[in-house]
Amino acid sequence: MALLIIGSKRADAFADAVRAEAPDLDVRIWPEAGRIEDIRYALAWHPPTGVLKTLPNLEVIVSVGAGVDHLLKDPDLPDLPIVRYVDPDLTNRMVGYLVLHVLFHQRRMCEFLELQRQRKWEFRGEPAMHEVRVGLMGLGVMGEATAKALKPFGFQLLGWSRTQKTIEGVRCFAGQEGLDEFLAGTDILACTLPLTPETRGMINRDLLRKLSRHGRHPRLPGPVFINAGRGGLQVEADILAALDAGELYAASLDVFETEPLPETSPLWTHPRVIVTPHNAAESTPESIGRYTVRQIRRHEAGEPLENLVDRTRGY
Ligand code: NAP
Ligand code: GLV
Repeated sequence: MALLIIGSKRADAFADAVRAEAPDLDVRIWPEAGRIEDIRYALAWHPPTGVLKTLPNLEVIVSVGAGVDHLLKDPDLPDLPIVRYVDPDLTNRMVGYLVLHVLFHQRRMCEFLELQRQRKWEFRGEPAMHEVRVGLMGLGVMGEATAKALKPFGFQLLGWSRTQKTIEGVRCFAGQEGLDEFLAGTDILACTLPLTPETRGMINRDLLRKLSRHGRHPRLPGPVFINAGRGGLQVEADILAALDAGELYAASLDVFETEPLPETSPLWTHPRVIVTPHNAAESTPESIGRYTVRQIRRHEAGEPLENLVDRTRGY
């Protein structure tokens, strides 16, 4: 029985971490797959199209990420259970990213960075936290944990998901029918949606125009967009146009239509855009090693796998 690690640039580190957890496990790194009949488990991140199909005795695919769009895009993906990565360390990192960027924009930090570049000492007050409405787009593992972390600051919280949720202290909206009201009540939109056929490209100019105009609080001059979900959710030309038209005040983007973000993208230098290289929440080798071995042990013991992906939903 062997585990094949496929597609990640950090495959060596993942292999070391798995071996530290399970010294007897036969761990291989693609393309050095050896006798492919031995391979029953795959740990994958953006595997090359068609590779998983070539493994005749594969039983379980573990995703290196919480998102599984990188797997589901393969038209030849075998019809096997897919375990996505859900881990307190990953969630905590995402919560940290989102809280940081919500506070960053509530405190008008893009303006202060610009003033610093100009060596200008200029007082600018921020809106009170209780005056700012944060809309969490996606109320799954990441969205709900972020809502809980933001609550003690006093922000007004809204959330949007596919199915209706009930979360204390969060005004929850669901589906297309709840989207416009959710957007109209949102000053800072923080997105952790998965990329699916339904969500692809949905952050476009029309959607951004529906964000709160009340966001034009004298101290928060317009709505803010934060994306830590997937780049395929957003239309970057529309984000830039909305920023330049004053429909959007600022944006923090961790994910992009094309990654790495091309050097020619105007997002790199826009004074109201914060760019990070898809590192909002890292899957660390230690946690991935532990998680993968746990899934293998559960499967071998006939216990249910955790965090299975529903392919019909796409996440
Ligand atoms: P999750 O638990 O599956 O939550 C997904 C949320 O999105 C759920 O609330 C779901 O609604 C909602 N949703 C899905 N499709 C929708 C639709 N068509 N309309 C409205 N809501 C929809 O996932 P998670 O663990 O929170 O992770 C979310 C995403 O974060 C991942 O898929 C990945 O893309 C991204 N991520 C990024 C990084 C990074 O470093 N940037 C790291 C980790 C994860 P229901 O609750 O009704 O199902
Ligand atoms: C990272 O992008 C993840 O999906 O976990």
